[in-house]
Amino acid sequence: MKYKNLLEQKRNFEFLLYKIYHFIFSEKFFKKIEYNFDNSKTRLDLINFLIKKKNYKSYLEIGCHQDEVFSLINIEKIGVDPMSGGNFRGTSDEFFFQNNKKFDCIFIDGLHTYEQVIKDIKNSIDSLSENGVIILHDCLPSKITHQYVPRSRYTWNGDVWKAIVEVRTWEHVETYTILADQGLGVITKKKNSDLLFMKKNNFKKLKFKYLYYNYKTIMRTISYDNFISQMD
Ligand SMILES: C[S@@+](CC[C@H](N)C(=O)[O-])C[C@H]1O[C@@H](n2cnc3c(N)ncnc32)[C@H](O)[C@@H]1O
Repeated sequence: MKYKNLLEQKRNFEFLLYKIYHFIFSEKFFKKIEYNFDNSKTRLDLINFLIKKKNYKSYLEIGCHQDEVFSLINIEKIGVDPMSGGNFRGTSDEFFFQNNKKFDCIFIDGLHTYEQVIKDIKNSIDSLSENGVIILHDCLPSKITHQYVPRSRYTWNGDVWKAIVEVRTWEHVETYTILADQGLGVITKKKNSDLLFMKKNNFKKLKFKYLYYNYKTIMRTISYDNFISQMD
């Protein structure tokens, strides 16, 4: 208990330092994005719907924490986390380095930085069955403080959204972002039917202000019900 309190204090101190860092050095654009989220649907609903609809047989989760989702998946499964939960103790990079299996459904919810997520997406595409799906959590931060990297608060989406924007410029995959549960990215191995053209290719440097004004197009947002109804 004492050890837990010490860790908590250390974390709060780190958050304070990073808040000061962001106050001095980071982008300042404090408008809130009012997404039209469907609050009745969660990542678990989407994952279990897809597993049932597509008759998927295998599941991989990157970042399991307390197994809130992982424990409720009832097909063959691997859960990767360096700290807690799942059944593979290590980072996603360590997992993919030794993996030679293919998965039908992959849920990416590990380290929420652009650099790690884009790696997780590339590795997941290589480990995805042809008819499979990749789902990503935390794709739609509503405030700049929720996306600041390094992390400076408990509720945190990170800059996962920048990886989604990059994937939207690739021809070989189809990508949507569902308006539910902090933004659920969905990637399938189909030809991109709505390719995003961007002059800039340093995705890490994209600004929150740009997300604010363009999220519908760049993230290709869609309601949960519309996504489900347009699926084949
Ligand atoms: C937001 S939590 C996951 C929540 C869980 N997927 C759920 O839906 O309830 C993020 C988890 O990612 C883990 N994580 C951090 N870095 C990681 C990495 N490089 N590879 C895999 N998991 C990582 C953390 O230890 C943490 O448990």
